[in-house]
Amino acid sequence: MAKLWAGRVSGETSSIADDFNSSISFDSRMYVQDITGSMAHAAMLGATGILSQKEADTLIDGLQGVLEDLQSGALQIDLSCEDIHMFVEQVLTGRLGDVGKKLHTARSRNDQVALDLRMYLRSEVDEITGLIKNLLGAILHQAEENKTVIMPGYTHLQRAQPILFSHHLLCYAMMLLRDLDRLRDCRKRMNVSPIGCCALAGTTYPTDRRMEAKALGFDDVAKNSLDGVSDRDFCVELLSCLATVMMHLSRFSEELILWSSWEFQFISLSDAYTTGSSIMPQKKNPDMAELTRGKTGRVYGDLMAMLTTLKGLPLAYNKDMQEDKEAVFDAVDTVKMCLKVFAPMVETMTAKPENMKKAAQGGFINATDLADYLVKKGLPFRSAYKLSGQIVAQCIREGKVLETLPFSEYQKYSSLFGEDLYEEISLETCVGKRISEGGTSLASVEAQIDYVKQMLV
Ligand code: ARG
Repeated sequence: MAKLWAGRVSGETSSIADDFNSSISFDSRMYVQDITGSMAHAAMLGATGILSQKEADTLIDGLQGVLEDLQSGALQIDLSCEDIHMFVEQVLTGRLGDVGKKLHTARSRNDQVALDLRMYLRSEVDEITGLIKNLLGAILHQAEENKTVIMPGYTHLQRAQPILFSHHLLCYAMMLLRDLDRLRDCRKRMNVSPIGCCALAGTTYPTDRRMEAKALGFDDVAKNSLDGVSDRDFCVELLSCLATVMMHLSRFSEELILWSSWEFQFISLSDAYTTGSSIMPQKKNPDMAELTRGKTGRVYGDLMAMLTTLKGLPLAYNKDMQEDKEAVFDAVDTVKMCLKVFAPMVETMTAKPENMKKAAQGGFINATDLADYLVKKGLPFRSAYKLSGQIVAQCIREGKVLETLPFSEYQKYSSLFGEDLYEEISLETCVGKRISEGGTSLASVEAQIDYVKQMLV
């Protein structure tokens, strides 16, 4: 096929080189943005008199036709074209003749691809934002459903202090709210139009970059034409946001996997989001959570690939930059897939409050509260800590727990103990007393639920 850029280069390129050079297999997904961008460009060329209004209108109608035909399937993407930009221009010129050849006035593929990518990723950010909000909805649902369920809270994966299951779940809500905030921030810098920067230096035509930017929903235009075509920070930022989302999902996955194990049995995942084993009939495997945890590595890899591709690139456009798209597309696809499966998986899981409570009762997780009890009676914390440790050691030796150690035994350690100690170290009291802002008390959990809801409107 004759190249649109044939001119200086007239010899045939080898087909191996053509394949190597081509990006249409992955950039064709931006066809809507490419065509919409071109329509705004044609409108600007008409409005500024660079083309006649009639020519601009013909181009816009022609582009509309190409868009509709691609959407209906009447027109297929020709994979022998170098990229989506060449393909659209070629089809347009095939249909309109010479007018089609005027579309590329006062622009270059360098600013065109930067425009398309920003527009494409902008809508992906919006979609991912919606999916994160769905997941937040599922977390809220579970938190409200299990508001007063007590579980052991862990440090070092050792039972540490009793907490509310809802409090634990809301921790993930806080992470995801920050992810939303990061995406919002990233979108702001992404939403700056590069179109009109042309190949690298701007143009001699009397263009109106702001008109084009406004028509395409951008907040601003790139202030430096070299920057407009060279900047891929928005990809790096997005990938970094997405890597963080995946890191959060991966931690959540890990806990869902642990909690649904036979050893924990804190939750059970719905059959719809688990798989069976081909050989072991008793198995119910948390594959969705495991895959999410596994796919986190891909997204981290995409971020590294992008940073490494950009490292050391001289200004302005270099073909290396064509490598930006596969990494960033892979990351958005992966994150969307994970979020789509994660939200209903969380929504439909069932908590097992009795098992959580049992686990919370066995591990001396009220030992801090026993120490606090003595502190309130006047003992310095360090001494109270030591005494409580000795009592725990006795319980372990005798196969008892703090709740069942007789009062007479407590009295041997300190006369400060009163019968009210049992009430003070009950799990309900331990949780209920943690009224510090952000603590695990019910009032705090309710405040957190309100906060998350407020952030979602
Ligand atoms: N397919 C190219 C890319 O994705 C489009 C820009 C090509 N520009 C150029 N000067 N060869 O980066």
